Amino acid sequence: MELSLVKSLNTAALTARTFAYAPYSHFAVGAALLAADGRVFTGCNVENAAFGPTNCAERTAFFKAVSEGARQFTAIAVAGPDNAYTYPCGVCRQVMAEFCGPETFMVIVVKNPEEWRECLLGDLLPYGFGPEDVLCASS
Ligand code: THU
Repeated sequence: MELSLVKSLNTAALTARTFAYAPYSHFAVGAALLAADGRVFTGCNVENAAFGPTNCAERTAFFKAVSEGARQFTAIAVAGPDNAYTYPCGVCRQVMAEFCGPETFMVIVVKNPEEWRECLLGDLLPYGFGPEDVLCASS
């Protein structure tokens, strides 16, 4: 991915983080998901007094995207609290695996506008379970 595109995705994730609703954990997270058609869907974490309904920033971005017709994705940038690397939780990795290839989907973890790490979904979720496993077994 072009450097300018990575940087703009990172900036979008940092901006989305400002909208986090995190009155319980005070752990604000923002995400920016790049669809194959070029659209960018942002998301933040949305917590809940009952805790269980809390939605992570990454899943907010994915659910917004899928509900607007996007099904193919290139990359996601994730920005947690300042100057730390916040990697996606296990549930979010599983949601990524529903729509994205382990060898193609890039996860960018943003520490600050100048520092980030890039990896592939397959690095975060090796030997994952995905749609193919279910579809093969049932056909
Ligand atoms: N959280 C995210 O939004 N994304 C992650 O990758 C890690 C965790 C949120 C969930 C919860 O609102 C808060 O961070 C603390 O776990």
